[in-house]
Amino acid sequence: MFYIYNERLINFKVLIMNKPKVAVIFYSATGTNHQLAHWAMEAAKEAGAGEVRLKRVQETAPQQAIDQNQDWKKYVEEHKDFPTVNLDDLQWADAIIFSTPTRYGNLPSQLQAFFDTTGGLWSAGKLANKVVSGMTSAANPHGGQETTLMSLYKTMIHWGAIIVPPGYTDPCLFEAGGNPYGASVKADGNTPGDNIKNAVKHQAKRTVEMAGKLNG
Ligand SMILES: Cc1cc2nc3c(=O)[nH]c(=O)nc-3n(C[C@H](O)[C@H](O)[C@H](O)COP(=O)(O)O)c2cc1C
Repeated sequence: MFYIYNERLINFKVLIMNKPKVAVIFYSATGTNHQLAHWAMEAAKEAGAGEVRLKRVQETAPQQAIDQNQDWKKYVEEHKDFPTVNLDDLQWADAIIFSTPTRYGNLPSQLQAFFDTTGGLWSAGKLANKVVSGMTSAANPHGGQETTLMSLYKTMIHWGAIIVPPGYTDPCLFEAGGNPYGASVKADGNTPGDNIKNAVKHQAKRTVEMAGKLNG
């Protein structure tokens, strides 16, 4: 936040909101969460973020498992050069938006493995006060979206991060299924609809706005 002191009015006036640095971090096996993360990146830029990084979580599954799912195999081959997240991205960001599929109501091991490398940052207090928010997908309408986000948020709580859920802060959220924990979608192999896109964009903008206020 940038202030100008006005001697005559004897008050401080906010002139320019601080522009938070935003990392959008996703794991995706078949593209759904990549799409959600892409929309979040667009919205963060539209909301006035200073800089936005879109990074994927490194694939760690054995090739034998990947080869058994043609969609997964195709996604991995097409995105092998897409930039992967590292610890510097976490330290750099003021706000972090995650997008992750469910795995039996939990986080994918790929994302959990990345979190398991953050102990050094955590013990140095470098993850405290990060502004965070999460999005997710599952193959079924009630296949574990909320529990996956709660699994994500448990780690955020241990970091001392500041979770910004969408709640019911905009009518568009009801059109997207009304998940107050984070934007979520039933993944069916198709690009999620505009109702989901709107919810993602609202959530990302809200996260950037909150980060701007907290960094002031
Ligand atoms: C090991 C495994 C476990 C899964 N568990 C569930 C589940 O419990 N409920 C569900 O609805 N979908 C489940 N899914 C489906 C994924 O959540 C779905 O493929 C994912 O949300 C698609 O996101 P992506 O395209 O970004 O990879 C599972 C998929 C895998 C591979």
